[in-house]
Amino acid sequence: MTIETVDYTTKIPNNVNLVEDRQVLRALESWHPGYIDWWKDMGPEGFQEALVYLRTAVSVDPKGWAKFDYVKMPDYRWGILLAPKEEDRKIPFGRHFGEPAWQEVPGEYRAMLRRLVVIQGDTEPASVEQQRHLGKTAPSLYDMRNVFQVNVEEGRHLWAMVYILQKYFGRDGREEAAELLQRRSGDADKPRMLGAFNEATPDWLSFHMFTFFTDRDGKMQLESLAQSGFDPLSRTCRFMLTEEAHHMFVGETGVGRTIQRTCEAMKEAGIEDPMEIDKVRALGVIDLPTMQKKLNLHYSLSLDLFGSEVSTNAANTFSASLKGRFQETKIADDHRLDNATYPVLKLVDGEIKRVDEPALTAINMRLRDDYTADCQRGLDRWNKIIDRIGVGFKFELPHVGFHRNIGEFKDAHVSPAGVLIDEATWAREHSKWLPSKDDGAFIGSLMTPVTEPGKFAGWIAPPRVGIDNKPGDFEYVKIAA
Ligand SMILES: [Fe+2]
Ligand SMILES: [Fe+2]
Repeated sequence: MTIETVDYTTKIPNNVNLVEDRQVLRALESWHPGYIDWWKDMGPEGFQEALVYLRTAVSVDPKGWAKFDYVKMPDYRWGILLAPKEEDRKIPFGRHFGEPAWQEVPGEYRAMLRRLVVIQGDTEPASVEQQRHLGKTAPSLYDMRNVFQVNVEEGRHLWAMVYILQKYFGRDGREEAAELLQRRSGDADKPRMLGAFNEATPDWLSFHMFTFFTDRDGKMQLESLAQSGFDPLSRTCRFMLTEEAHHMFVGETGVGRTIQRTCEAMKEAGIEDPMEIDKVRALGVIDLPTMQKKLNLHYSLSLDLFGSEVSTNAANTFSASLKGRFQETKIADDHRLDNATYPVLKLVDGEIKRVDEPALTAINMRLRDDYTADCQRGLDRWNKIIDRIGVGFKFELPHVGFHRNIGEFKDAHVSPAGVLIDEATWAREHSKWLPSKDDGAFIGSLMTPVTEPGKFAGWIAPPRVGIDNKPGDFEYVKIAA
C-alpha cells in the first residue's frame, strides 16, 4: 500500500497501517463510541439524520484527496490521515536544528509535547460545540452544508490529535483523549482550555467571522506545529492544513457575501452614508459599522489565542524543536535565535512602545504578527468588494491592544485606533466598538432559515460558484422529514 492510499476496510479509515498496529487500533476503537455519543450530543442539533453533501478525504494526494457524496453526519468516515513522509526530513529549527526528525517522542520533551497536542486537540471539538445550533438558522442549504463540512472536519482534527496521543503517549495519552470528550465549550465547571473557544457563536455573521479569524489562528498554530521535529505531529498537521483552507474560505466568502448584499441594498435604496444605520437596517441587511464591531470582537478574541507576547514557554517549545515559526524553512536566519531580537509592542510607563526583546521569548509575538498580516490581506479583499460597488467605507483591524484579556494589554484600555484611554472613557465608548445587546438582537432578527434549494436569506448574497461546481439550485442538504 502506498502512503497516499487510505485504508477504508477498517472501521477507522487511515493511512497509518492501523491493521498492523493492534494496540493503537484497539485504543481508537474503544474511544470511538464515546466520540459518537459526543457527536450526537454536541454536534449539529436537529440534523443528525439529514443527508449532507460532504467531502471526505480519500487520499492525501494534494491533487485529488477528497470525494463528495451525500452522508448522514454520524456515518461520516472520520479517519487518521497523515501527509506523506518526507524522506530524510531534518529538524528545521531549535536546539536540534539539522538532526534527523524524530519518529518517536524524545523522553525529555514528553510532557511539553503532550501539552501542545492536548491544547490543539481541545480546540477542535470546542468549535463544533460552539456551532451546534447554527443549522437551524442557515441562510441557505449551501451555507448549511458549509457549516456541517467545517464541523465534520473539526471532528476529524480531534481524531488526528487523539491518534497522536494514543499512539505515542500510552496511558496518559488515553486519559487525555478521554478528557477531550468531557470538556464542553462555555461550561462553568469543565470549560474548553482556551478563552475564544468558550464564547458563543450566536448567529451566522459570528460564524463567518469565527471561521475567518479563529480558524486562521488555528492555521497559524498548525503551520508552526507542522514544522515540528516530532515527525508524526508535523505530518498530521500538514494534512489538517489542507482541510483548514476550506474553513477560511467559508469565513472569508461568508463575510464577503454579507458585505456585498449590504452594499448592493444601499445602492438600490440610494443610501450613500454607511452611518445611517437605521435606514440600512430597515432594508433587512447588516450595516457595515456593525460588521466592523463584530470584526473587532473576533479579531481581539483570536489575538488572545497567541498567548503572551513575551513567553518563556514559547521559547522553550521552540528551543526544544517542537513548535517552530510560520514558514520556518523559508526564513533566512540561524533557526536557533541565539542572539536575535524581535520588536514587541509593550506598555511602558503608561505609553505603548516598541521594545526589542530576545527573539526566542518573542516567538508568540512573531506568529501573531504573521497572523495579523494574513488577516489584513483578507480585509483588503473585503474592502475591494465595498469599493467595487461604490460605497464609502473601509474595514480596519483594531489596534492589537484593543479589548485584550491576555498579554501586555490585558489591564489597559486601548481604543481601536491605539490610544490608551481611562476606565470612564472605555465605559462610555466601548459599545461603539464592540457589538451591543441591541446589535446582537438585530442580527438575530435576520436569522430566519431558508431551506428551499437555490434560495438565500435577504442579508447575504449567493456565492459565485457552488461547492464541487454544483449548480445554484443544488440540494446540498436533504433534510430528514
Ligand atoms: Fe481544525
Ligand atoms: Fe478549522
